[in-house]
Amino acid sequence: MANQATEPERPHGLLVEVAGIDLKLGGNLVLAGVALTASEGEIVTLIGPNGSGKSTLVRVVLGLLEPDRGSVYMRPGTRVGYMPQRVVVDEMLPLTVGRFLALGVPAAGARPRAVLAEVGAAGLAGRPIQRLSGGEMQRVLLARALLREPDLLVLDEPVQGVDVTGQGELFELITRIRDRRGLGVLMVSHDLHLVMASTDTVVCLNHHVCCTGRPEAVSRHPEYLALFGPLAERGLAVYTHQHDHRHAVGGEAAPLAAPPPRQDAAEDTAEDAAETEGRSHG
Ligand SMILES: Nc1ncnc2c1ncn2[C@@H]1O[C@H](COP(=O)(O)OP(=O)(O)O)[C@@H](O)[C@H]1O
Ligand SMILES: [Mg+2]
Repeated sequence: MANQATEPERPHGLLVEVAGIDLKLGGNLVLAGVALTASEGEIVTLIGPNGSGKSTLVRVVLGLLEPDRGSVYMRPGTRVGYMPQRVVVDEMLPLTVGRFLALGVPAAGARPRAVLAEVGAAGLAGRPIQRLSGGEMQRVLLARALLREPDLLVLDEPVQGVDVTGQGELFELITRIRDRRGLGVLMVSHDLHLVMASTDTVVCLNHHVCCTGRPEAVSRHPEYLALFGPLAERGLAVYTHQHDHRHAVGGEAAPLAAPPPRQDAAEDTAEDAAETEGRSHG
């Protein structure tokens, strides 16, 4: 190898390249030897069980967390639109969707009305943000991520709190945005089968990269099947989002008296309440 000191030649269109990432949090090795790339026009989906390091890896890509080892490259000048897994909206603050978006507009950014129309939510501008259904809220968050005219969209569980029909619609919307704008997408999902049609490349993560490739290939990969079990083989959802009951001593489901401490409990409650109120809007 000649000339190791110079920057490596990177393929045209490459936006992100991380390699050999190790990261410890609270004494645990959350990421071990992790690598991924994302390019213009490509939808890359990170899948893996709860706690497998998906959000942590996203935060490394965004430069919000410093890895202990490895390299993080983002093409200079790349504008990123980030939709985090959790957004806390103050219940008491009177805030319309239009105002919420206006707060996030960079100096030379897009107009809130234009991005709302792009995500099929033009009618929501005057609505209080606390009164949105789960699906509406996710569209508004997607609109917010589009405000800065990104080259790369980073979406952490973009269909969280949305019913299954709404999930399919959101993934189709993300694909249309990619087609129209030609941007790269890095997103996180629990469920490969829901995102298969909307994904070019899957990275299956369980602290290390178990397997990576086209979704059809990953869905048959032994490590993927071992990780997600026989449910995955039958094409069933492996979404493990349960907070309406706990397991009693004998293992039977029991109602939640006091919710266990969960990072996202407050947001779940807000979203669930909003979704119940506005379910007819999908
Ligand atoms: N700040 C932190 N300190 C200690 N452990 C953390 C911290 N953030 C996340 N973790 C742990 O790292 C692991 C991966 O978390 P995360 O990346 O959020 O998983 P995922 O998004 O795949 O559900 C989890 O075990 C989580 O508890
Ligand atoms: Mg996460």
